[in-house]
This record gives sequence, structure tokens and C-alpha cells, in this order.
Amino acid sequence: MLVKEEYKIINQKKKLYEHSRSLIIEALKIAQTKYGWVSNKEIVYIAKILNLPISEIESVATFYSKIFRKSVGKNIIYYCDSVVCYLNGCNNIKKSIELILNIKLGQTTKDNKFTFLPTGCLGRCDHSPIIMINYDIYTKVLKKNIINIINKYL
Ligand code: FES
Repeated sequence: MLVKEEYKIINQKKKLYEHSRSLIIEALKIAQTKYGWVSNKEIVYIAKILNLPISEIESVATFYSKIFRKSVGKNIIYYCDSVVCYLNGCNNIKKSIELILNIKLGQTTKDNKFTFLPTGCLGRCDHSPIIMINYDIYTKVLKKNIINIINKYL
């Protein structure tokens, strides 16, 4: 559960906003930074701190794909499956990553080093296909380069 330090940070930030609703994403990010994901306990705790219904915190947490509601690996690999990347071969990229990591899309490796997730357009369509690992974007990804990219995160 969020500890005194996070509670203090959220409460301080609360003073900066007219309505505590504006702080939901920030509070979720604070929880995620601490634990790597946001558990039900944190949802309840944030609802209490912000004096909002649990369902409201949950609806925001599940709307944003970068807020994780279950445990994820140390590194998140996103592959863009939107139309331009699709036309430029993202399915081959997906298959290669699944083969290298021995997991399917949506899964985490047994050693917890990688979680593999889809994402919508990352805004770099002119350099597709695109993958993103954590906050690093890789453009014009070729199947033969994927292993070298992944090895950077081992
Ligand atoms: S479609 Fe993949 S970055 Fe836009």
C-alpha cells in the first residue's frame, strides 16, 4: 500500500487543483512508479485520499493503457498495430518478438524482464514499423535487428 511519503505527495498536490478529480492520473502514476503497477489496494487508497468513489479511480485506471492493473515485467515492449505499421509489416515484427521472448502478445516472460503489449499509433507512421521499449522508440524496425534491440534491455 502507498506509504506515508506518497500520501504526503498526493496531499500536497491536492492543494494545487480546484478539484481532486484532476489529480487521479497523477496519483495513479505515483502508485505505479512505486510498485510498477496499480493494485486494487492502491485504487481504494487513492479513492480515500481524493475523497472520490472507487469506481471513478478504477474507470480512469482502466481507460489509460499505460496504467497497469496487473503486474508487468521490468521492461514493456509495445508494438504499434495501427494501420500504417500494419501495412509496413508489423505482424512480422510481432511474430519475431513472440518467438525471441517465447511469449504471446499480452504476456510477461517467466523471468519478469519483458511484457509484450500492443499500442495504437505512436505518431511516427512515416518511420514505421515502430516498437517502443519503455520510453525508447525504435523506427523502421527490421526483423533481423529485433534481437539486438531486445538485448539492450537484458
Ligand atoms: S501507425 Fe504505427 S506509428 Fe502510426
